[in-house]
Amino acid sequence: MRFLILSTLVLFAVGCGGGTTTPDAGTPAVTMYSKYKEAGFVAVNNSIITKAAAAPTASVGTSFSTLTPAQVDKLKTNLGAFLIKAYGGPDNYKGASIKSSHAALAITEAQYDYFITEVVVKSLKENGVTDDDITNGFAPAVTEKKAGSIKCDTVTSGTKPTGCP
Ligand code: HEM
Repeated sequence: MRFLILSTLVLFAVGCGGGTTTPDAGTPAVTMYSKYKEAGFVAVNNSIITKAAAAPTASVGTSFSTLTPAQVDKLKTNLGAFLIKAYGGPDNYKGASIKSSHAALAITEAQYDYFITEVVVKSLKENGVTDDDITNGFAPAVTEKKAGSIKCDTVTSGTKPTGCP
């Protein structure tokens, strides 16, 4: 139960800057990038890619399992750069906006929430990110629901998350 509550509360945080996705808060003095550094982000990103590829299609849909190896490589590069930029590191992101890169994928809110709790949160924990940093450092940006937020821009199928335009 405790894990369930934690998992539900826990996501990324801090300002995200990919494409049209806008940050909700200013950059804090201690960013997640300054704490976990390049190597930490690379390790978390690698775990996310591995877990996403292995996630059941009944839970995340078929968008990951149908990617070609070249598309997986591109996702790894672009997601890694996106996360580093979003959490206070250098801006080397060369991908599309979150909205356009997910527009055709028909992702539902349930799939999004599964991805966060089962893929992202587990990847953070497995790589030594503290519960406090998961909740307070990595969370709000991916749970936030408002125009231009990551969640609103990613979920394009089924019932719209409450709070999304
Ligand atoms: C925190 C939530 C998420 C973030 C921050 C995120 C971020 C990204 C980024 C940065 C890219 C690369 C865009 C590009 O190459 O131009 C991407 C691509 C992709 N995302 Fe997400 N994503 C999220 C959630 C999801 C979810 C929930 C799914 C599926 C259930 C998903 C499926 C994909 C797929 C399949 C691609 C590759 C698209 C392609 O190459 O055609 N994403 N995502």
